[in-house]
Amino acid sequence: MKKFIKFLCVIMAVAMTVSLASCGGSDEDTITMATNANFPPYEYKEGDNFKGIDVEIATEIAKKLGKKLEIADVEFGSIIGGVQSGKYDMGMAGMTVTDERKKSVNFSTTYATGIQSVIVKSGSKVKSVDDIAKMVKDGGKIGVQQDTTGDIYASDTPDNGGYGEDNVVRYKNGADAVQALVTDKVGCVIIDNEPAKSFVKANKGLEILNTEFTVEDYAIAIAKDNNDLLKDINKALDELKKDGTIDKIVAKYIPSK
Ligand code: ARG
Repeated sequence: MKKFIKFLCVIMAVAMTVSLASCGGSDEDTITMATNANFPPYEYKEGDNFKGIDVEIATEIAKKLGKKLEIADVEFGSIIGGVQSGKYDMGMAGMTVTDERKKSVNFSTTYATGIQSVIVKSGSKVKSVDDIAKMVKDGGKIGVQQDTTGDIYASDTPDNGGYGEDNVVRYKNGADAVQALVTDKVGCVIIDNEPAKSFVKANKGLEILNTEFTVEDYAIAIAKDNNDLLKDINKALDELKKDGTIDKIVAKYIPSK
């Protein structure tokens, strides 16, 4: 009997090790970053390679932690849940810190700021944020990337500063929202300023309105029960800020800064 119990224990130990090893978030040697890589200059793909500010900062963090960086390119709206469940170690996607998201995950210290801005077609009747309400009244739609802060603001009720869900068309990524603007399916796109600049540069006949919607902080999402990683990431970020690495990475992608 004793032998049998011992045997059972061994089997259980093996099974546990195997299941731990196969679970992305718990692998000791790698750190998995969930992102949505259609958000230049923070994250985008060139062929099979991931590029951008977040990708490079994450690479430096992984180096400091002595881990290999693995990137999972997923829908923006599934990043928080995946981090919360332990599927990914961190979420890094030009992600804005919001009180609502803080209920589900912890955020690192911030490493960048973003501004929600409005893209229109050149010559559009929408010349300022105030004109959006008029556009919507005339049947025009607002394009956003699903589940982003741009979506949340635009979809909010008018008494809360939004335009109501019915007037918002939600796309899987920012590039799709911008294509919808190019083909007149929507009358404007609300999105973070740096991606807005990249998209406007890549498409003729678009411009960014001169008004800022809101200023936001970008940070890395980490599971609430993963305080060790939160501490390690904050320490790494602090060092990378102090030694100028982050500034250097940002300047490479946003030369004016
Ligand atoms: N800053 C916005 C937010 O947190 C948009 C981020 C979208 N990021 C991305 N990689 N697609 O909601």
